Amino acid sequence: MATQDTSEAWAHGLTRPELVAGVVDVWRASLEQTEGRVDQFRTTLAEDECARVVRFASQDLRDRYTAGRGLLRAILGRYLEVEPAQIRFAYGPKGQPALSGDCASSGIRFNVSHSGAIFMCAVTRGMDVGIDIEEIEPRADFLKLAQRFFAPTEAAEIRSLPAEEQLPAFYACWTRKEAYIKAKGSGLSIPLNKFKVTLLPNMPPAVVSSAVYPDDSAHWKLFDVSPHPKYAAALAVAPAEHEVTWRGWRLQLAN
Ligand SMILES: CC(C)(COP(=O)(O)OP(=O)(O)OC[C@H]1O[C@@H](n2cnc3c(N)ncnc32)[C@H](O)[C@@H]1OP(=O)(O)O)[C@@H](O)C(=O)NCCC(=O)NCCS
Repeated sequence: MATQDTSEAWAHGLTRPELVAGVVDVWRASLEQTEGRVDQFRTTLAEDECARVVRFASQDLRDRYTAGRGLLRAILGRYLEVEPAQIRFAYGPKGQPALSGDCASSGIRFNVSHSGAIFMCAVTRGMDVGIDIEEIEPRADFLKLAQRFFAPTEAAEIRSLPAEEQLPAFYACWTRKEAYIKAKGSGLSIPLNKFKVTLLPNMPPAVVSSAVYPDDSAHWKLFDVSPHPKYAAALAVAPAEHEVTWRGWRLQLAN
């Protein structure tokens, strides 16, 4: 049986987190860190990450990227019991980051998402995992976006809902789809309209069908995550054969 967190489960992780089979840890933190903290994070980044920082157009974006990478390194360093700067990443053909070098043998898998001011990271051992967070914007064109990007039946389901339920259903659909494709590492090479997720308010999160990977509806578990009232987020985990629990942690940083 899958379980979800309660607000208390956003516990403060101050010691080395235990990561047993079937458990996903979900971390959230602010990307708006103090200058001193961003400077400290910068010292932990690898050369390629520093090269990427300078390509962002504004100082704000540079600082957020630095904070995101620094947070990821700090979190993974706690599981691995290594200094954040020692962690090495490798990237899949579509850009999916994974641990490489000495740290890869730990079996630790992770995925990262950021939107607005929030950073989220999901960490597992030995499972595929994807996470997606989106800041909820009351955008006027969301039905058009659903029509353009989602499966036709998903767009129709959103339109069939009462007006006040349409935007939440759009974001539930979007984050569930993104979490799934991120867990697969495929980016948009799996078109968002080639698979279907649940999105109606009375339906638990799930992959309903996939034209590209027909077995995936049985293989994957999806969860909604509630990092903040103004954001929607979802988590995708496989294999779904055994029990999956996710627990949330709030990362406390002394600014
Ligand atoms: C690559 C992609 C995963 C980026 O997603 P996103 O929602 O823009 O960004 P997120 O913050 O959730 O994820 C970015 C992080 O995912 C990770 N990532 C990058 N490529 C990845 C891949 N192929 N698979 C899994 N994770 C990946 C990285 O850690 C990245 O962080 P970084 O930029 O700090 O290195 C891709 O799915 C994408 O471009 N999606 C946008 C689709 C879209 O526009 N949909 C419209 C629906 S209406």
